[in-house]
Amino acid sequence: MSIRQQIPQDDSAIDALMAEAFGPSRHARTVWHLRQGDAVPELCFVQEDAGAIIGSLRFWPILLGGKSALLLGPLAIAKDYKGKGFGKALVAHAIARASQMAYHAILVSGEPDYYPQFGFVSASTSEFLWPGFIEEERLQILWLAEDAAPLMPGVKAILPTGA
Ligand SMILES: CC(C)(COP(=O)(O)OP(=O)(O)OC[C@H]1O[C@@H](n2cnc3c(N)ncnc32)[C@H](O)[C@@H]1OP(=O)(O)O)[C@@H](O)C(=O)NCCC(=O)NCCS
Repeated sequence: MSIRQQIPQDDSAIDALMAEAFGPSRHARTVWHLRQGDAVPELCFVQEDAGAIIGSLRFWPILLGGKSALLLGPLAIAKDYKGKGFGKALVAHAIARASQMAYHAILVSGEPDYYPQFGFVSASTSEFLWPGFIEEERLQILWLAEDAAPLMPGVKAILPTGA
């Protein structure tokens, strides 16, 4: 198993993986309002086993309270590979890389019990303004620097960078 940066030739395999994980109407979810333009190229990773793509994770740039931040996802592991630590390795790898970049935080709308193992904490929807419906328990944040949270006091809008 190896993790490498995504290349254009991976697109169809990634699309098939996402269709398997999230179904045909996946782009209708509100999270896609925040995925405008391209994902951050340095943070598009695939996981391979014997030349086949078995995992994919991308991040989109967003604005959080007017500051640069990242939106984690979509993340998917092929069904035959789930529960074997591949997702954990992929997320940890990507967060380590993101931590070296100039982003203040990573937001995710995801499984409430999955992301705390990476340091994510619950983000209240009264403080973080998600553009659309979200189940409150799914919204989580990882601050990438100790002084990032105090830089953004009060209510913070979550916006696509293209907005
Ligand atoms: C969610 C997903 C990415 C997890 O990847 P994975 O490779 O199956 O998970 P891992 O084996 O790395 O799990 C790491 C740990 O998280 C736990 N875990 C796995 N899936 C979990 C979930 N959905 N909720 C809570 N905990 C979970 C595992 O039990 C494991 O715990 P342990 O370290 O104590 O043993 C994968 O199952 C998947 O692609 N699911 C379908 C698409 C999806 O839901 N994507 C994420 C949207 S938020």
